[in-house]
Amino acid sequence: MKRILVTGANGQIGVELVPYLRRLYGDANVLATDCRAASPEMRDSGPFDLLDVRDGKAFLDLLSRFKADTVMHLAGILSATGEANPQLAWDVNATGTFTALECARSTGAAVFFPSSIAAFGPNTPPRMTPQDTLQRPATIYGIAKVTGELLCDYYHLKYGLDTRGLRFPGLISYVALPGGGTTDYAVHIYYDAVSKGSYTSYIAKGTFMDMMYMPDALEAVVQLMEADPSRLVHRNAFNISAMSIEPEQIALEIRKHIPEFSISYEVDPVRQKIAESWPDSLDCSAARSEWGFSPKYDLASMTADMLKRVREKLARS
Ligand code: NAD
Ligand code: SER
Repeated sequence: MKRILVTGANGQIGVELVPYLRRLYGDANVLATDCRAASPEMRDSGPFDLLDVRDGKAFLDLLSRFKADTVMHLAGILSATGEANPQLAWDVNATGTFTALECARSTGAAVFFPSSIAAFGPNTPPRMTPQDTLQRPATIYGIAKVTGELLCDYYHLKYGLDTRGLRFPGLISYVALPGGGTTDYAVHIYYDAVSKGSYTSYIAKGTFMDMMYMPDALEAVVQLMEADPSRLVHRNAFNISAMSIEPEQIALEIRKHIPEFSISYEVDPVRQKIAESWPDSLDCSAARSEWGFSPKYDLASMTADMLKRVREKLARS
């Protein structure tokens, strides 16, 4: 990767991935785009353009003018927001991904596609979910993610495009708030722990989902995109995860730092049903053996860092 166009750059991942890429490849070599205006930090640290990923003409124009060799296609609508507006979710997530691939086909750029644990469904084996298994998701978000994975494989097989993807678990971070997903509780719990000393979870006690701290996710994206292609048996998309956890375990870990912290539950039936349709834990052996996936943060080290960073952030605001 030398010149990278990032879509959906203002989101939870983009606000950290863009600076990370700019540090690695040079500020001028990473074009951030989003359909919403950029923050001053994003705008002032390198090139930014407005782009709605459904607008193929504008997309191709930017990609060609910037001479990007890689598209990191982050633009999307997350699972809970998607269930509230399935038509919009399909349009942005499926049509937007098809548009990104068509533009990349025209210029020969490589494509990074962020799939999700949502690409699995209620009849997928839920524990140590294999890399290759049954994928019959029950959400429009998941259906669009499977579509994206298959399209990326198709563009690789048919046109030789260098498409690569990760099935991200729930990502936990402190720079931007999550954008309307089912795993968002695992971020909100840290903010409420610091600001209120308590948290009311919309996900039920005992509901396991895979999670990962953002620094490990950023490293995984670059590791995969820089991996020797001859080692890649799979491409779209690799299971990755750093921990399989449920709300009580996070609460227990937070109590090691804030002993009075308490958790209660007001379960949201929509997000709970989505969570129950996703795996409890993923088998990440393909990512480990094909390109050396090796996350550094576990629940204890992530919790210590999240609490410190959220405390600093809230003290500044
Ligand atoms: P987010 O919701 O925080 O950000 C998405 C960004 O896309 C927003 O800035 C939004 O303005 C932009 N966007 C929406 N519609 C657009 C359009 N039509 N054109 C251009 N931009 C548009 O999402 P995120 O958490 O940063 O996730 C990025 C990608 O990673 C998504 O595809 C998501 O499905 C995937 N993913 C995220 C997670 C996670 O836990 N954050 C987990 C699995 C997969
Ligand atoms: N964090 C994402 C969501 O909950 C998983 O893809 O929607």
